[in-house]
Amino acid sequence: MFACHPNSEKESLSQVIDKGLSAAMEQALLMAKELENRQGALPRTIDKNGKLETSNYGWWCSGFFPGELWYLYENKPSPELKRYAEMYTQRVEAAKDLTNTHDVGFMINCSYGNGYRLTKNPSYKNVLITAANSLCTRYDSVIGAIRSWDFNKKVWQYPVIIDNMMNLELLTWTSKATGDERYKNIAETHADVTLKNHFRDNYSCYHVVSYDMITGIPHAKQTHQGAADESAWARGQAWALYGYTMMYRETGKPEYLEQAKHIATFVMNHPSLPEDKVPYWDFDAPDIPNTPRDASSAAIMASALIELSQMDSSDFGKQCLALAEQQIRSLTSLEYLAEKGTNGNFILKHSTGSLPGNSEVDVPLTYADYYYVEALLRMKKILK
Ligand code: GLY
Repeated sequence: MFACHPNSEKESLSQVIDKGLSAAMEQALLMAKELENRQGALPRTIDKNGKLETSNYGWWCSGFFPGELWYLYENKPSPELKRYAEMYTQRVEAAKDLTNTHDVGFMINCSYGNGYRLTKNPSYKNVLITAANSLCTRYDSVIGAIRSWDFNKKVWQYPVIIDNMMNLELLTWTSKATGDERYKNIAETHADVTLKNHFRDNYSCYHVVSYDMITGIPHAKQTHQGAADESAWARGQAWALYGYTMMYRETGKPEYLEQAKHIATFVMNHPSLPEDKVPYWDFDAPDIPNTPRDASSAAIMASALIELSQMDSSDFGKQCLALAEQQIRSLTSLEYLAEKGTNGNFILKHSTGSLPGNSEVDVPLTYADYYYVEALLRMKKILK
C-alpha cells in the first residue's frame, strides 16, 4: 500500500514540486472558503467519520493554516490568497498573550511570522514581540529551559519536550527585530540544555525531560506520545532535526550543526525507515510494519533536511537532500497526497498525532500540510 507511486520516478523533481504546490493551493482555497463564515475556526484534522475538526486560537496548531496560506501566497501572490492569509492570521492573534503553554511560538511564528516576513505589516511585528514576551515568562534560569506543559503527568516537576526547540525561532527573530539579546540568550540556553539532556548516545532523543525545580537537574526522561520511554518517537526526532538546523542558522554555533547532522544520520540509517522514507509513527513501534505512518514527520524532516543540505557541502549534504527528495516524491504520490475536495480539504493523508492517546491516528493534520508546503518551497528555491 505504501510503495511510491509507480510514475513518480518518471517525473522531474520540479514537476513533482509544481504538482504538490498546485494540489496544496486547491485544497487550501477550498478549506479557506469552507471556514470563512465560521468565526474563529481554524482547521485541525478530521474525525472518524471524515468530518472536519477545527480549533480556536488556543490549540497548539492554530497558526499552521494561516502560515500555509502565507507560503502559498509567497509562491503565487494573489489578492484572494492574501485576503485569506490575513483573515486566518487574525484568528490566531489572541494566542500572543498565552502564558500557559510553550506552543505560543508555533502559533504566532508560523502565522504572524510568515505574514510579517512577506508584508512587513507593523502590527504583525507587535504581535510577534508580545508573543515572545509571553513565551519568556515560561523560562526558568536555574533550569535554563522554557517549561513546555503545565500538566504534570506521572512525576513531572518541570516538563520540557523536544518539540519546544521549534518555539525558539520566535525568540531569535525577536532579538533581531528589537536589538535586545535577551530573547536569543534564552533560546540558546534552552537549546544547550536540551542538547545536554534530551539525547541518547545514538543521538535519538527522549520526548519529555522533566527537571527538578530545586536543583535544575533532570529527574525523569519519558515519553508522552511515543511507544515507550526509550523509543524514538518519529515526530520528536523530526522536531529535533529541524530545531538544531534552525538554531545553527540563527546562531552559527557549530555544535548545533553537529547535532543536526548526528540526528539526520540517526534517521537516515535507521532500519525501520521504510522504503518510501515516510516514517512509522515511532521508529521503535512494536508492530512495524503493521502500524500507522506519520506523514507529518516526513514533511518536517524533509524541510529540515533541505536546509541542512545547504549548510554542508560534503557528500553528507547531498545525502540529506536526496532523502528530502525521496520524502517529497512520496508525499506527492497518490498514497499521501489527497485528491481535490477529499480528506477534509487537507493536503496530506496518513499522519499520526498521538497513537498511545488514541488521538488523531492515520489522519490529515494541519502541521503536516504546513511543513510539506514549506519543504516544497525550500526545494523549489534550490532548483532555481
Ligand atoms: N507538538 C505536539 C506534537 O508534535 O504532537
